[in-house]
Amino acid sequence: MNEVLNNILTRKSIRSFKDEQIEDDSLQLILKAGIHAPSGMNKQSWQFTVIQNKDKIEALSKVIREALGRDKSYNMYNPPTIILLSNDRDNSNGLADCSCALENIFLMANSLGIGSCWINQLKTICDEKAVRALLSDFEIPENHIVWGIAALGYAAIEGKAHEKNENVIKYVK
Ligand SMILES: Cc1cc2nc3c(=O)[nH]c(=O)nc-3n(C[C@H](O)[C@H](O)[C@H](O)COP(=O)(O)O)c2cc1C
Repeated sequence: MNEVLNNILTRKSIRSFKDEQIEDDSLQLILKAGIHAPSGMNKQSWQFTVIQNKDKIEALSKVIREALGRDKSYNMYNPPTIILLSNDRDNSNGLADCSCALENIFLMANSLGIGSCWINQLKTICDEKAVRALLSDFEIPENHIVWGIAALGYAAIEGKAHEKNENVIKYVK
């Protein structure tokens, strides 16, 4: 099978991770794939913030829990690595650009045997005081919205394969 299609077809969201950290060489390839994603008008106004510190990842889960009233079990699946995809709030393509980068990240990770999942909870709460304070600690610019987070690590439990709806394609000839 075509290797790009095979990679796309074998990617699944992973929601349970081993503690083992991903190798730095793999992280560099994942980031390279991310920054080579397309962006509207080639603005590349995004930032990729990599966090590999368990306490800092837990601190982020905690501010999200508190801002959204989530219970203690919310921990972004406790991955060893997260990459926050943020973009200038005035860039009307900010979410689309970050989404392209995230998919590149997920596919590169999959090709390296590393599991991934999109974490979506930050985008509406970035300007809440405790959340913004932590984002500032992570050196995310004040004018950035975090549109998505890639949770990354080796799968502790394999993801469930979802059937994909093929009835969404329409040909106009
Ligand atoms: C915009 C977007 C937001 C998502 N947010 C979350 C999330 O917050 N938590 C989560 O567990 N999965 C999240 N996902 C993953 C989807 O649930 C997942 O892609 C979908 O169920 C299909 O499964 P698959 O990725 O294994 O193909 C998100 C995916 C997208 C594209």
